[in-house]
Amino acid sequence: MKSTIFSFTTTVLAGLCAATPVPAAAPQADTAATPGPYHISGFFASKAHLSSYCRFEFNVTAPSFPDVVSCSAYLDTGFSGATWLAYVYEGAGNCNSDAVTWTFWHPRGAETDRNDAVFNVTVEGVKGRYVVPKGDIVVVLNEEGNPFDNDVYYGGPKEFDIAEFPADEE
Ligand SMILES: *[C@@H]1O[C@H](CO)[C@@H](O)[C@H](O)[C@H]1NC(C)=O
Ligand SMILES: *[C@@H]1O[C@H](CO)[C@@H](O)[C@H](O)[C@H]1NC(C)=O
Repeated sequence: MKSTIFSFTTTVLAGLCAATPVPAAAPQADTAATPGPYHISGFFASKAHLSSYCRFEFNVTAPSFPDVVSCSAYLDTGFSGATWLAYVYEGAGNCNSDAVTWTFWHPRGAETDRNDAVFNVTVEGVKGRYVVPKGDIVVVLNEEGNPFDNDVYYGGPKEFDIAEFPADEE
């Protein structure tokens, strides 16, 4: 009888020890799920005057990657009279660290029918998404009757946080 109770107790204790690593792993998963805001500063995006080319520049810091990373791009909109900013597709933007990649997509529209843009910044494989409100993109039609003389630039805050982290659906 005594030996049965002893063996029961040992089994319960052994079970508790074996279970310990499972709860210990949970905090790591929580940390990965909340990457925290990415801080953008010096954000600049502009189509050069009478040119189809756009220049983009910004700096980014992230809680998981505290070094300041500087990014830029110089891309063709395809049309000097564009009323939209150039598409920075995956791989088209440059950064001085391999830890960061980014994209910028401003759907083209007529002058009176502007669209929001989407700016995605991926730090160490975690993608953050920021919607640039259409009101922050300024379109200037310099000369009435000249469809080629348009200026387009980002006129919103130069500093902002990216706090939306969409789960990848792939
Ligand atoms: C990014 O940061 C560097 C170093 O702090 C600074 O020299 C540079 O002007 C910044 N770039 C932008 C676009 O703000
Ligand atoms: C930006 O991220 C969103 C959300 O994951 C995605 O739907 C969109 O296609 C991305 N934009 C670009 C230009 O890759």
